[in-house]
Amino acid sequence: MVTFTGFSALCIARGMGEGSELICCDTSEEWTSLGVPFWEEAGVADRIDLRIAPAIETLRSIEDDGGFDLAFIDADKSSYIAYAEELLRLVRPGGLNLVDNVLWFGAVADLEINDERILEIRAFNEWAKAHPRCQNVMLPIGDGLTLIRVL
Ligand SMILES: C[S@@+](CC[C@H](N)C(=O)[O-])C[C@H]1O[C@@H](n2cnc3c(N)ncnc32)[C@H](O)[C@@H]1O
Repeated sequence: MVTFTGFSALCIARGMGEGSELICCDTSEEWTSLGVPFWEEAGVADRIDLRIAPAIETLRSIEDDGGFDLAFIDADKSSYIAYAEELLRLVRPGGLNLVDNVLWFGAVADLEINDERILEIRAFNEWAKAHPRCQNVMLPIGDGLTLIRVL
């Protein structure tokens, strides 16, 4: 998952079972360093592996046989498809990939709005809809969250 100030990471880490591990990606030392003391205070810092690097590099560096239960994509929209493709290798069948901002406060459904970010999100939504290993539900909460069940 991507990190920012670590709020989502804190929520997910608190819900994980003993022995589980959360890999957090981000390029910003500045933002992520704000979250670390809260992970420590909550007693979950030892479950979180923070990796400062472009997320696509981190994902590609993980040699895993596809045992991840959950992933959360919430970074640069231009890389959403690349992240999701890499996560098809990492998330186990039956696992979930959560993807944020898929409606961008309704702009994605407004065909009058065609800036670069909206086109990237639309392209991702089309990719997910068409992919044979993605079973999707798009929730209209926040600015849109897609749950992909990896088949
Ligand atoms: C919307 S915030 C994530 C919020 C986080 N999921 C939460 O709920 O607390 C987006 C984050 O993506 C990071 N980011 C942007 N481009 C990135 C990239 N190419 N690789 C890794 N992280 C990136 C930004 O630094 C920022 O912290």
